[in-house]
Amino acid sequence: MSGLQAIRYSRGKLEVLDQLRLPHEHHYDEVSTSEEAFDCIKSMRVRGAPAIAIVAALAHGVELYNGSCKASSPEETISYIDSRLDYLKQSRPTAVDLGNAITHLKGVIRRADTAGHREDATAARSAAIIEAYIAAAEEIFRKDTETNLLIGEHGSRWLLSNAVPGSSADGKISVLTHCNTGSLATSGHGTALGVIRSLFAGGRLRHAFCTETRPYNQGSRLTAFELVYEDIPSTLITDSMAGALFATRGAEYDIAAVVVGADRVVRNGDTANKIGTYALAVLARHHGVKFVVAAPTTSIDLQTETGAGIRIEERKAEELTQITGAVVGEDGKVDVGRSERVAIAHQGIGVWNPAFDVTAAELIDAVVTEKGVVTKGADGRFDFRGIMPERWAAVAGK
Ligand code: MRU
Repeated sequence: MSGLQAIRYSRGKLEVLDQLRLPHEHHYDEVSTSEEAFDCIKSMRVRGAPAIAIVAALAHGVELYNGSCKASSPEETISYIDSRLDYLKQSRPTAVDLGNAITHLKGVIRRADTAGHREDATAARSAAIIEAYIAAAEEIFRKDTETNLLIGEHGSRWLLSNAVPGSSADGKISVLTHCNTGSLATSGHGTALGVIRSLFAGGRLRHAFCTETRPYNQGSRLTAFELVYEDIPSTLITDSMAGALFATRGAEYDIAAVVVGADRVVRNGDTANKIGTYALAVLARHHGVKFVVAAPTTSIDLQTETGAGIRIEERKAEELTQITGAVVGEDGKVDVGRSERVAIAHQGIGVWNPAFDVTAAELIDAVVTEKGVVTKGADGRFDFRGIMPERWAAVAGK
């Protein structure tokens, strides 16, 4: 597995790789409070649906470990933890992993208080709640990599059986991905990039293409960095080149599939992901290229019926009109120690900057999760009941 780590953690200490400085500088920030985590997530020093949830959950665990909770009763301890989690939930609205993690953690602390500690002294009950919270946050972090390895396995197998183009004599396939869904967006291995990594590890990847992913350039800054770091045969394109790339299918490049991650997959399979995903899905359908969403079940939102119910985060205008990068010297060499922010558009232009878009289930061929691959039934609909029966029943029972 990759040595790249977006999140470094040991009990009481959390460090987060500042992704704003990548690919040129590797700098870890210590994140010890919910406020620091909120700022780190909002400013996108950490990003990617699973990583956002992990950093929020662990940061609150670190402050609890360091004695931030001054509550004098178990009830107050629970309400303190609830309020910190509710605050963290406001950092970024579209990805559901954080919301799902918060629901889980709130359940854990309530169960910890009812599981045989009632007769204990108040302080012991509060300590048990805090210990249960920290252990559960650590478990979210630990399980994420396991989850991603399974997504990689299921996804690569599904692609090799369902997306192999006719001309593939050697059984290898080429794929395109968007945004960054790798080690930097998770605790390790990645989701969509994990599928690519698994194809590569199995000797079945011919070539990976990644889009630049304007305006934030997660593709060129982060995915390209991960692909080069892993020695995966790969090529960077701008977002606007995908159609031209698909049009060379069968001639130059046999793109078998587009594999993307997700910030929120809702009950009918409509999927919110990085802006530009929807356009890729339309193009893929037109060119007969499979379109696959690779995401953990923690990115599935069973409460929201369709994509129309997803709140899309809008970000500031400067992300389109300005850009930061390392300075390139007269000799053509990149000066990694010197970065500059430059204007790339008239600063007076009006800007629309939605961070995500919604791809209709109709355009998605498969949703790959750690529990298996979900494809549409004879009725043309996704049904997540089979892979998450308990969560499905909990929602149905409401
Ligand atoms: O704005 P970002 O960088 O947080 O957006 C990230 C994405 O859209 C990813 O595709 C998604 O979160 C999945 S990451 C495994």
